[in-house]
Amino acid sequence: MTKTELEAAFAAIFQKEPECLCFSPGRINLIGEHTDYNGGHVFPAAISLGTYGAARKRDDQVLRFYSANFKELGIIEVNLQELIYDAQDNWANYAKGVVKFLQEAGHSIASGFDLYVEGNIPNGAGLSSSASLELLVGCICQGLFQLQLDRLDLVKIGQQTENQFIGVNSGIMDQFAIGMGAEKCALYLDTNNLEYKLVPLDLGSHVIVIMNTNKRRELADSKYNERRTECEKAVAELNSLLNIETLGELNAISFDQYAYLIKDGNRMKRARHAVLENQRTLLAGKALEAGHLEEFGRLMNASHVSLEHDYQVTGVELDTLVHAAWQEEGVLGARMTGAGFGGCAIAIVEKGKLDQFKENVGKIYKDKMGYAADFYIAHIAQGTHPL
Ligand code: GLA
Repeated sequence: MTKTELEAAFAAIFQKEPECLCFSPGRINLIGEHTDYNGGHVFPAAISLGTYGAARKRDDQVLRFYSANFKELGIIEVNLQELIYDAQDNWANYAKGVVKFLQEAGHSIASGFDLYVEGNIPNGAGLSSSASLELLVGCICQGLFQLQLDRLDLVKIGQQTENQFIGVNSGIMDQFAIGMGAEKCALYLDTNNLEYKLVPLDLGSHVIVIMNTNKRRELADSKYNERRTECEKAVAELNSLLNIETLGELNAISFDQYAYLIKDGNRMKRARHAVLENQRTLLAGKALEAGHLEEFGRLMNASHVSLEHDYQVTGVELDTLVHAAWQEEGVLGARMTGAGFGGCAIAIVEKGKLDQFKENVGKIYKDKMGYAADFYIAHIAQGTHPL
């Protein structure tokens, strides 16, 4: 949407002109899945789908939130001094969390404000609409109240909101990718020390296709937390002899030698995924920098296999799309992206084969699932910014 459209949309709801406009992208992850809370590497990128926000300060202590994506909820009103989670406030809880943690970090949010939000990230698609919103609200507050913050502070406040306000024990990948993203670049991030580099995503005659299962990520949060606990328990078991903090400290060989210490088959598989996915991500970073796209694609395929069989977070919808994509001509690689349990997959596809790809994969999916998948081209975009 254009700036003028966003201003008009704000004015139509709040009858005033907005003072601050921002855009915050969604993200895809190329490889490095479920490694960010296991001390590993991730390789995400911000995309052009995202969330627009417009806001204006008020003279009282009231926060009013309106989302064009949840029109039925109308204006959600809360007091700046009473920022506690309330299921009824739905999406606005993300905004409340960010404001609360900004205040707790010592930033002065002196008055209430009105906030209009409108996003085009498909809902529940695993493209991080929630992290997009968190960073958007952070950027809006920074603009409205001239807060002295650097971007990493906002990234961490986004994650804190997810962990402590919403109750999802997620890692830092989504907020980091969304806050730090750069046009046409993926972010190669070491989640141990937050060192990162921007790697130009030069795919030549190929594009990244996002494939949406259109299956909402049901139970995703509880399953997500369960996986995290399984990994922590595996670390504790390994530490009967080792002295590691995260699975990311192991490689294929050291893991193999000590895996016998893990007392449960499922936990062993979860840990194996975390270790090998981190190794794959290291290789993928090198492959992309060297322009070895075929190798990069094979690593993506291997990542999906591991998420399907070892981490077990894919499900029939994602597997159907990815397995169908693997059969297509002109596909370098395909895998689920994000937390899993529904949501989206990605594929690297030759431009000239795109129509055929969408038609064939789309048909296999519809025949099997009884409803259609959606396909979008991923445009790699800049991180959250004022408009
Ligand atoms: C979600 C979380 C991230 C990350 C991915 C899986 O998107 O928010 O922190 O763990 O799942 O890689």
